[in-house]
Amino acid sequence: MNLKNPADRWGGVSQLLHWSIALLILTIGVVGLVMGELPRTPKYFWVYTAHKSLGITVLALVLLRIGWRLYAGAPRPLPGIPRWQAWLASATHGALYLLILAMPLSGWLYDSASGLRPFRWFGLVEVPRLAAPDEILASAAHDAHEWLFWLLVALVLAHAGAALHHHFIQRDATLARMLPRRLRAAPPREDSP
Ligand code: HEM
Ligand code: HEM
Repeated sequence: MNLKNPADRWGGVSQLLHWSIALLILTIGVVGLVMGELPRTPKYFWVYTAHKSLGITVLALVLLRIGWRLYAGAPRPLPGIPRWQAWLASATHGALYLLILAMPLSGWLYDSASGLRPFRWFGLVEVPRLAAPDEILASAAHDAHEWLFWLLVALVLAHAGAALHHHFIQRDATLARMLPRRLRAAPPREDSP
């Protein structure tokens, strides 16, 4: 397995970071949406701590991913992709990076500014406050956390839709080169022997 990114596809580390961050964000998003409805038993606090701890983990993984991207680069764009499409893909990827940084940061800022007792990351290490308690800041960070999430959902749907379109309709290697080797075969063209 190639760790760095060869010219024609994404390497193992980039793939692992891409799919683990995507899976974590999906889990954290679902937990975030349901946790407010939970009965206020002791488990309620545990679920909040899990949401926050997984969110801080995403922040660390995203920073690692950006560092790895700068070090390992990206594969060459596929030939035959129109310039406007390549530009749109790059703009979407840039926006996705910004959003997956902004999501945990806005959550952390909200948590800090709302004046709650600092939480411990998976019960292990106390996470420092980003700001002193402040009602206005807490409310702004809360709104940002919620609205940025829906913006992220919309962009991820467009991004995943584009990847599936490339795979099943255009039948090129865009998605296949972000998948492990054994899952990589693109579906055969109907006109292939
Ligand atoms: C990728 C990371 C994250 C995602 C995708 C995410 C997503 C969400 C979502 C969808 C909600 C529900 C919003 C609503 O409908 O009001 C939520 C709520 C919340 N999040 Fe996050 N979150 C992330 C990281 C964090 C982090 C790192 C913290 C704190 C350190 C945090 C703290 C909270 C809190 C306290 C709430 C409850 C807000 C309320 O009581 O209304 N989140 N999050
Ligand atoms: C929370 C979910 C997701 C996030 C935040 C995300 C984010 C990203 C980002 C930022 C890139 C650009 C990588 C770079 O240039 O450094 C990327 C690439 C890619 N993503 Fe996702 N992604 C998510 C989910 C998905 C899903 C569900 C699919 C497929 C169904 C997918 C397919 C791809 C593919 C194929 C590439 C490579 C594109 C290329 O080579 O030009 N992603 N993703």
